[in-house]
Amino acid sequence: MALRSFVRYFEIFAAIVTAAFVLLLFVNEPRQQQAVPRQGASPGEAIFAARCAGCHGSDGAGGFGPPLAGVVTSRFPTAAEQEAFVAKGTGAMPSFADTLTPEQIAAVVAYTRTELK
Ligand code: HEC
Repeated sequence: MALRSFVRYFEIFAAIVTAAFVLLLFVNEPRQQQAVPRQGASPGEAIFAARCAGCHGSDGAGGFGPPLAGVVTSRFPTAAEQEAFVAKGTGAMPSFADTLTPEQIAAVVAYTRTELK
């Protein structure tokens, strides 16, 4: 008798632990860090915030990727060269030819050349 009620209590205990575990799985669901461009951002700034800032830093000072602020114009004398680089990518720098239109690439490149100091 004592064993049966112990088993019964254990079953209830196990059910509660399982339920709590499942609940915690949902509660702890990591939220996708969504880069939200500030209100009134230009298209180039919005693209930078959403697609580039994760690696190059929100101010272009670098992070996983190298700094862009203040250096891109000397690295790439013309915007066209930089646009070609961003479209193609290299190493850990992704290619954006398939995910951004040429206009979007031009906009984000212009932003990095003029607005990131
Ligand atoms: C997954 C991370 C990642 C993302 C996202 C990313 N980059 Fe990069 N980027 C890199 C890395 C790493 C390099 C260095 C590549 C190398 O030289 O091997 C780089 C290099 C660059 C360079 C050349 C810098 C230099 O001095 O040589 C430019 C320009 C650049 N990225 C622009 C952009 C733009 C614009 C975007 C968004 C459209 C972007 N990157 C998104 C990782 C990233």
